[in-house]
Amino acid sequence: MQNFDYMTPTRLVFGENVIEKLPEVMGAIGRRVLLTYGGGSIKKIGLYDRVKELLKDFEITELPGIQPNPKYDPSVLEGVRLCKENDIEVILSVGGGSVLDCSKAIAAGAKYDGDPWDLISYKVKAQAAVPIVDILTLAATGSEYDCGGVISRTETNDKIGYMDPLLFPVCSFLDPRYTFTVSKKQTAAGCADAMNHIIEQYFCEDSTLLNDGFCEAGLKSLMVNTRACLKNPEDYRARAEMMFACTLGCNGIYSLGNSDSGWPCHGIEHALSGYYDITHGEGLAIITPRWMEHILSERTLERFVKYGINVFNIDPSLPKMEIARKAIESTYAFFEEIGIPMHLRQVGIGEERIGEMAHHIAVNEGLENAYVPLTEKDIREILVASL
Ligand code: NZQ
Ligand code: ZN
Repeated sequence: MQNFDYMTPTRLVFGENVIEKLPEVMGAIGRRVLLTYGGGSIKKIGLYDRVKELLKDFEITELPGIQPNPKYDPSVLEGVRLCKENDIEVILSVGGGSVLDCSKAIAAGAKYDGDPWDLISYKVKAQAAVPIVDILTLAATGSEYDCGGVISRTETNDKIGYMDPLLFPVCSFLDPRYTFTVSKKQTAAGCADAMNHIIEQYFCEDSTLLNDGFCEAGLKSLMVNTRACLKNPEDYRARAEMMFACTLGCNGIYSLGNSDSGWPCHGIEHALSGYYDITHGEGLAIITPRWMEHILSERTLERFVKYGINVFNIDPSLPKMEIARKAIESTYAFFEEIGIPMHLRQVGIGEERIGEMAHHIAVNEGLENAYVPLTEKDIREILVASL
């Protein structure tokens, strides 16, 4: 078992009507608020009006229009400018992972005199950040319980995961009812993202029985509850359990004491979104089974066998290699069943830039240190198999 040093300082407030506590939580931090949100879903579900009502005694500046795969220019730059001009004391992020990730980059940039990209690209370490509170409306990324954000820079095709303990939200409000309106496409993509977060932690060299069980339960919970959410989008019980399983995805709790896996599928997917602006969870669902096929070998066989038996109930008396192959097929079949397009071509990615992307990933993502090390050639083969 590996050493670890762990703390998640975020307060989670979960359940129906929890945002009634918003004024109390926000009031303890500050009164000048930057309210960040996306393309308008929060207005359609009445959340925007409710937030404005609850915060009627606060000074609110707004940053609307944050896009999926949030962009450095204009959203991060605009948010930093607004924070500085209005002496913002707290950021309230209302929306999915993209709004929250963007808010995290703004939070650090607002306390820095230079170009915020210096921080995101790790050229300079942030010394301070504006505190963040969030109301989550989409179950997927786990950004509400971690200190990372992923920011895209269109002109260089960069999509960078930026982490700093300063960026843990102070408080995350999770009311599953606000996810009732999430489309089938985004529900399925959110599930694939959260499942991949667990898979990235499960497939490693050194894991514990405790973590394996926790990961296997997380995967089963996500599959059962996503099926239920797709059948009935207003199934509170299913939306709630899905939301919580997603929340735990990226804050390390599924793998405390495990060796690091290098998160290879995320390394590959970030380039797909960086080059083609596709939905993160869909990119992951496409890559995951192809990556699994690529790394299946005598060395990794036992992991796949355990995964297949415990997550997909595959007959343990079958030959090990057959169990492993069935496990990979079951992973693919589940993503297909929940409606995810399972080929890169279906999301608008052809072979034209495969070589360029493989090179970009090999140079930028450090996958030579992954659980199964991936060279540029390996990455290209995985991408080609995903077409
Ligand atoms: O923009 P609006 O109008 O709000 O619409 C959004 C958006 O179009 C919509 N939506 C959100 N809540 C809704 C809703 N529609 C109806 N009803 C609701 N209640 O859903 C669309 C997608 O939203 P987005 O925030 O982009 O989705 P998600 O939460 O999946 O976030 C994806 C981003 O997070 C990054 C991804 O790379 C991607 O950029 N990630 C962040 C991580 C982190 N911080 O830890 C880890 C992840 O691995 C991931 O990389
Ligand atoms: Zn992810």
